[in-house]
Amino acid sequence: MSEQDQIVDTPAQTFLGRIWQALGPTGLPSDDRGRMRMVVDNLVLHLHPTKVPTRTLSWTYTWGLGGLTSLLAVILVLTGIFLQMNYTPSPSQAYLDILSLRTNTWFGDLLRNLHHWSANLLVVTAFLHLLRVFFTGGHRAPRATNWIVGVLMLLLVLAANFTGYLLPWDQLAYWAITVGTSIINYVPIVGGFLNRLLLGGPEVGAPTLLNFYSLHISFIPVTMVMLMSLHFWRVRKDGGLTVPRRAKESEPPKIERVTTIPHLVRRELVFAVAWIAILLAWSMLVPAPLEGIANPDLSPNPAKAPWYFLGLQELLLHFHPLVAAVIIPGLALGALLLLPFYDIQISSVGVYFRSLRGRFLSLLALGTALLITPAWVLLDEYLLDWSAWLASWPSLISNGLVPLAVVVLGLVALDELVKRGLRATQEERILFIFVFLVTALVVLTAIGIFFRGPGMSLYWPWDIPTTHLSL
Ligand code: HEM
Repeated sequence: MSEQDQIVDTPAQTFLGRIWQALGPTGLPSDDRGRMRMVVDNLVLHLHPTKVPTRTLSWTYTWGLGGLTSLLAVILVLTGIFLQMNYTPSPSQAYLDILSLRTNTWFGDLLRNLHHWSANLLVVTAFLHLLRVFFTGGHRAPRATNWIVGVLMLLLVLAANFTGYLLPWDQLAYWAITVGTSIINYVPIVGGFLNRLLLGGPEVGAPTLLNFYSLHISFIPVTMVMLMSLHFWRVRKDGGLTVPRRAKESEPPKIERVTTIPHLVRRELVFAVAWIAILLAWSMLVPAPLEGIANPDLSPNPAKAPWYFLGLQELLLHFHPLVAAVIIPGLALGALLLLPFYDIQISSVGVYFRSLRGRFLSLLALGTALLITPAWVLLDEYLLDWSAWLASWPSLISNGLVPLAVVVLGLVALDELVKRGLRATQEERILFIFVFLVTALVVLTAIGIFFRGPGMSLYWPWDIPTTHLSL
């Protein structure tokens, strides 16, 4: 049998062949078509194993979040290449280029909107994907390396968004980056140096734009592509995805597998086409924000960091900057990176929320954090005054380490309650604390986005006035 016959014989290849034919190159001689089909199949089978467990194909297991995150990364690279062709990274030209892109370039506005919304959605999907992996125990052995690679990619996603934020050089960009980068100053000893290195000077200006542009179009995407390749390779090396447990214990323990082509690939194509349609429709209807040209002499009030850093900015309102900007994020990042080494129970891998009690504890943690976080923000805003009460102490202690100790003690008390009162196992306790902290972060971010107005005071969202401060 010739190579060509073999390709046509298997149903999987016939499926891709049909797509290939539908896409157009029907004028090619059948030999060439067969070869191209083989190339497409080869590409697919480089990314995926030849067979996958049937149970991992269920939508409600992965929610397609890793796939969607990958799709967004591809859309960002493609739209980014076109945007870059119409953009000069200089304060005198950048804003004008964006205006011209919107009005004078064919589909320029659509491409910009698509890039903007995909980038913001990427932060959300990468975060949700992290949650899905954690909730199904996908971070545990042998997937620890991939978890760490994932955390690094999440940091890169944030860095990509942050550096891209400045490029339109409008008021929103200028002041969000001014606020965002000022947080770096709080890193002890090297903070000032790092800030100047990133900004290329004492404040946001032409060198900053060039630095951010270079990072945004070269270092970050190149590193991202390398890490993504490593991530996909590790998924294969680790034996594919974690397999959801059998619905009933009576089911046979054997893992059923089906061929990747067409079963997985068909789902991925449908999912990708649906998401591309949603993103296109959204980008046609909702323009990406663009304010007036950057004006270093006129600061918006409040001046807020980009939305994904508003949880961090909110912490700065409640703790000494060293605690808010360095100690808490440092501890959180360390705990996330080390998670696979202290949350190691592999018998529940593949079971959402570990167990029935785990589900209950997750709901309990969600509810508790939804109540306690806003209550604590309100208390700290209107009643607690650590600096006045402990006036003789250095503010790092009175306004930093003391409130941090109170929060940590509160968490330890909650953990004890769950351990003793509900007889939670170690993995369920970790789950409880994780859900609590993630919910608290989301609540703090929401408060920063919707409830902070001039002077970073608390307002109802509909009462927030827009003001400016001349500097
Ligand atoms: C740009 C960011 C990312 C991309 C493009 C990406 C892509 C993917 C894809 C396509 C999969 C397989 C399908 C799926 O699970 O939905 C996957 C699995 C995995 N990802 Fe990610 N991911 C990203 C970020 C992360 C993050 C932030 C983490 C965690 C910190 C992470 C940890 C993992 C792990 C451990 C697996 C294997 C999960 C399992 O076996 O169930 N990834 N990723």
